[in-house]
Amino acid sequence: MRHLLSTRDLARDEAIALLDVAEDMAAVQEREVKKLPTLRGRTVVNLFFEDSTRTRISFEAAAKRLSADVINFSAKGSSVSKGESLKDTAQTLQAMGADGVVIRHHASGAPQRLATSGWIDAGVVNAGDGTHEHPTQALLDAFTMRRRLHGAASRGRDLDGVRVVIVGDILHSRVARSNVWLLATLGAEVTLVAPPTLVPVDVTGWPASVDYDLDHALAAAPDVVMMLRVQAERMHGAFFPNSREYARTWGLDDLRFGRLPTTTMVMHPGPMNRGFEIAARVADSPQSTVREQVANGVSVRMAALYLLLSGERGEAR
Ligand code: CP
Repeated sequence: MRHLLSTRDLARDEAIALLDVAEDMAAVQEREVKKLPTLRGRTVVNLFFEDSTRTRISFEAAAKRLSADVINFSAKGSSVSKGESLKDTAQTLQAMGADGVVIRHHASGAPQRLATSGWIDAGVVNAGDGTHEHPTQALLDAFTMRRRLHGAASRGRDLDGVRVVIVGDILHSRVARSNVWLLATLGAEVTLVAPPTLVPVDVTGWPASVDYDLDHALAAAPDVVMMLRVQAERMHGAFFPNSREYARTWGLDDLRFGRLPTTTMVMHPGPMNRGFEIAARVADSPQSTVREQVANGVSVRMAALYLLLSGERGEAR
C-alpha cells in the first residue's frame, strides 16, 4: 500500500488484510506490550489543517507505539496563517525527512493532491478531507462491528449481510461517505436516514438506500445504528431544521432506543452533541460502542502506518 486516501479505492481483500493486521496490533496491546520496534527510524508527520481530538491523538499514539518519530503540525500557529501554500508546507516536511504524512484538511481532495503532486516522497494517509472521506474512521468502524459481531473469530471475516443504518448530516459527512463505500465492499447493507436537505444530490450513485423516516428505518431492527454529528460549521446557508425539531425527528432518544433490539450496536464517530443527535443515556449504554471505537482507532491506525511505512522507502508500499 503506497497511500491510504479513500475507502472507495480499497478492494475487499485489501480491507480485510488491513483489519486483520489491526487485530494483530490489538492483540499486542492487550498483552500490554508498550511498543513495537517496527517503524524505528521512520518519521510520521501529523499535518492537521482542521481541528481534531480523536484522530490526531490516535495517529500520534499509533506511530509512537510502532517506535516512529512523530512531528505534530497544526495550521494554527504555523506559517500557513501567513499564507504559506500546501506545496511549500509539504516541501518543508520533505526536507525534514518525513516518511509518512497524515493529513486532515478542510479542502476535499487535498490528501490526493499531496500524494500525486510529486511534492513529497512520503506515504500519505487521509485523516479527513472536507466533506469527501475519512478512511481510517470507516476502517475502525468496520473493525468495531466485526469484533462485536464475530468476537475472537473476526479474522478474515467481512460484514456480509450486516444491516447498518447511518443517520444524520449525510451531506457534509466524510465519515458517511467512507463508511458507505467500505461497508458495501465488505458486503453490508446500508440505509441512509436524513432530512431531505441533508442528503447529497449524487446519493443515487452510492451503494446504499435512502429512507427519510427514522422510525421506519429503525423498525427493521438493524444490526447497527450509526449516528452522525450535524456539522453546523459546514452548513453555509443549507436549509436545516431547528434544533428541537431535529432532535425530535432525527435524534436517537431514549424512546427510539428502547424500541431497538438489545443486540443493536449504537455507534458515533464523535464528537457527539449529547441530547441532540443522541441521548446521553444512549451514548453511555452497553449497546454504545463510542469508547470502543476510539480504542480500536489506535489499532487500525497502527495497521495503516505499518502497511504504508514498514517497507523500504521508494519501493511499492
Ligand atoms: N471522529 C473524528 O474524526 O473525531 P475528531 O474530529 O476528534 O478527530
